[in-house]
Amino acid sequence: MCGIFAYKGQKTNAAQLVVNGLKKLEYRGYDSWGIAFKTGHKVSIYKEIGKIGEFDISTLKEKVDGPINGHMAMGHSRWATHGGVTQENAHPHYSQDKTIAVVHNGIIENFEELKTELKEKGYKFRSETDTEVISHLIQKYKSLGPVDAVKKALSRLRGRYAVLVLCAEDDRLIAARRGSPLIVGKGENEFFIASDIPAFLEYTRKVMYLDDNQMVVINNDAEFFDLETNKKIDKRIVKIDWSPESAEKGEFPHFMIKEITEQKETIARAINQDEKQFMKIANEIKNAYGTYLVGCGTAGKVCLTGSYLFAKIAKRHVNVTFGSEFPSLQDFITDRSLVIAVSQSGETADTLEAIEVAKGKKAKVLSIINVEGSSMDRISDYAINIKAGPEKAVASTKATTAQLAILTLLAYALDNRLEEGKILLVNTASQINDMLNPRYEDHILNLAKKIKDVESMYVIGKGVNYPIALEAAIKLQEVSYIHAEGFAGGELKHGPIALINDGVPCVVIVANDETKQETISNAIEVKSRGGYIIGIAPENNNIFDYWIKVPEVGEASPIVNIIPIQILAYQLAILRKNNPDMPRNLAKSVTVK
Ligand code: AGP
Repeated sequence: MCGIFAYKGQKTNAAQLVVNGLKKLEYRGYDSWGIAFKTGHKVSIYKEIGKIGEFDISTLKEKVDGPINGHMAMGHSRWATHGGVTQENAHPHYSQDKTIAVVHNGIIENFEELKTELKEKGYKFRSETDTEVISHLIQKYKSLGPVDAVKKALSRLRGRYAVLVLCAEDDRLIAARRGSPLIVGKGENEFFIASDIPAFLEYTRKVMYLDDNQMVVINNDAEFFDLETNKKIDKRIVKIDWSPESAEKGEFPHFMIKEITEQKETIARAINQDEKQFMKIANEIKNAYGTYLVGCGTAGKVCLTGSYLFAKIAKRHVNVTFGSEFPSLQDFITDRSLVIAVSQSGETADTLEAIEVAKGKKAKVLSIINVEGSSMDRISDYAINIKAGPEKAVASTKATTAQLAILTLLAYALDNRLEEGKILLVNTASQINDMLNPRYEDHILNLAKKIKDVESMYVIGKGVNYPIALEAAIKLQEVSYIHAEGFAGGELKHGPIALINDGVPCVVIVANDETKQETISNAIEVKSRGGYIIGIAPENNNIFDYWIKVPEVGEASPIVNIIPIQILAYQLAILRKNNPDMPRNLAKSVTVK
């Protein structure tokens, strides 16, 4: 949620570098954007509503007063929380005297009271944002000097933040975090700060992670401080193994279809784990007294699928809930519990809160993440990296199936059948490789053309594929904007079947398992009410009006069943002229609660 990017170094085109960096971070928020850049003793700000898109830096000269070349700049791509989508509310925000500029990701919970206090002291607010209190507060404490003024201002804030500050009278770039991600990239005589690593991958793979309640002051070097003790911190430089190309679209028109296609390789990569460590983690699950799977959105649906996989494959009960609901269940958590957090970004605020709650109860935490070095990776007792590579489309695809692969493998490991699980998943990976080809995509495109104008569609599944029906509905909602809902097949007759009438598309996921006959019966019930049945199954059936074949992969069926729906959602988005990479109202990483 919101992308932050900053540069300080020897290059003189800092503003341009920041605009380029923001373009790479736009998937984090895209309703407005802005930059602040330093020339001499002046901080200039430029901001716009809408996507940064193809913004050309050469046009900036005509839009701002004075020079634009300099060694230091920062920018922000916004996903609105406090205040509508207006130019005034876009970041950066000036202090009253325009000598300080601030960008911020997060939410300042006590901004109303701070705003009242500052207004009484004569500060005039130009925006409706919570962020603006930060720039005015820094001005208020200016006499302490820039670094101490920022520290003092931050000590007044309640809530979560990743904050960057530029001051007219100072040549240092100041940044701090509490609860929202911020990473420092170290190049040759230059530094980058960003919300996410892909933004600076083309310049450096050397990173330093800022932890909560830490500040970094960048001049010729980067100095880290603990905001609570005021002590200096020695930071380790970590080398990232993502390549710059992995974070680019390459020959693909959109990240979403690139990432769907990458599933040819990502399953095999995900299951390539250190076996000793994997078994150790499986033993933690075995020995835990109560295990909770926790995630949000798609990751939440993966968790629900995991509970079926653990039950089916390992005969093991695990609890499941969304990150945002976990605090309400905390009374059951003890120091013998294990919380398994599933998250692509490792930064989702609701899931992070669940982890904090669990840690508060001294429970152990295992995170299943895609972003190495993310908050969840670092604060958990154990972490499994799903190795899907950068996922930039807002709608998760390759991370979803990699997470499903890891949970399937964990279920086998729990049942001391790790090798069997590996063989199954290696075979699944190879079947996906065969399945994902232009002919397959065209077959789904024909379907998309038939149904592109419908108002609603439904997805049903049973057993381990019930959560996949829920995930399918999320995919369709996110990028096609068609009203879509997922149901457990057996639940239809208890209410939702009233929604079916002539021609309503209903995707039916039919696995070749004990649920097959009942799911077909559910499809017959829908067809009898006029529904148009789209079957996703290894075999055709008379009841299907349209059949999308998936390979027969036994217990790994959730992995292959979601892929055609990802493709369908993508194609519907294109046919309906939606941007599948940046769907309306959404952001890739939801770092606010
Ligand atoms: C996925 O398509 C969604 N964009 C969203 O539901 C996402 O899965 C959710 O916000 C959780 O994100 P995370 O995996 O990064 O924690």
